Amino acid sequence: MSYEMILVDRKEPVGLITLNRPEALNALNGKLMDEMTKALRAFEADDEIRAIVITGSEKAFAAGADIKEMQSKGYMDVFKEDFITANWEEATRCRKPIIAAVAGYALGGGCELAMMCDFILAAENAKFGQPEIKLGVIPGAGGTQRLTRFVGKSKAMEMVLTGRMMDAEEAERSGLVSRIVPTDQLVEEALATAGKIAELSMPSVMIAKECVNKAYETTLAEGVMFERRIFHSLFATEDQKEGMSAFAEKRTPEFKHK
Ligand code: CAA
Repeated sequence: MSYEMILVDRKEPVGLITLNRPEALNALNGKLMDEMTKALRAFEADDEIRAIVITGSEKAFAAGADIKEMQSKGYMDVFKEDFITANWEEATRCRKPIIAAVAGYALGGGCELAMMCDFILAAENAKFGQPEIKLGVIPGAGGTQRLTRFVGKSKAMEMVLTGRMMDAEEAERSGLVSRIVPTDQLVEEALATAGKIAELSMPSVMIAKECVNKAYETTLAEGVMFERRIFHSLFATEDQKEGMSAFAEKRTPEFKHK
């Protein structure tokens, strides 16, 4: 498959998607999001790929949805095409783990796309923000909801109401990103982290992801029960026997289901 706005690389067992619209700081237009959806679906269907990294350039992960593309749209246009969600949420549908490796600007839809991934690794130069308020709109790809869950009401409210950016240190301190890495090592580190996950038992990885995501959708008691039932079910897998036997025998596990 050929792509114009993204680069797609199979670095087995990791699939790498690089946003590649440098002239517009990787602004996310319809074509780019269609390509991203196709690339994610292809990686989901690919048995040799067991984890995915999405990244941008050193200057910008993505500076938001494409403002010039949106500028002339009217209410009926955005309503009819279900604008923003129609082709934007594929990352949230993937069962394989996805890491967002963010350097430079992750603004508006760029920040929202990063938050749809399972976790965010930030380069030292990363800058996050939801500046839509300055354009006379509000975040439209989950920003008001996901940012609030990541960083809490006070900081999310300030970010959304003022449109100010936060740097990598503030993003780490407030729980938006899992950790900060040197800018020139970001992609390498994200691929290495994804590679480590890809070596683990695939059903455990996918199920762990489902359980953590469940925490956003349900009560604590329901979530803990969901976790317990799934935890029990993993005792029916060969990989549980292998993982625990390998520990007892002081050797590296050879998981069957990768
Ligand atoms: N859409 C379209 N084009 C964009 C863009 C965007 N979101 N962000 C940057 N660009 C374009 C600029 O228009 C410029 O193109 P030209 O050279 O043709 O003029 C090019 O990228 C480089 O940008 P700048 O010259 O502005 O670069 P800078 O280094 O001076 O500033 C910046 C960088 C602070 C990120 C600035 O570009 C900026 O503020 N961008 C817009 C950020 C924004 O408002 N994002 C939210 C978009 S709305 C949204 O995302 C809705 C949603 O919730 C889904």
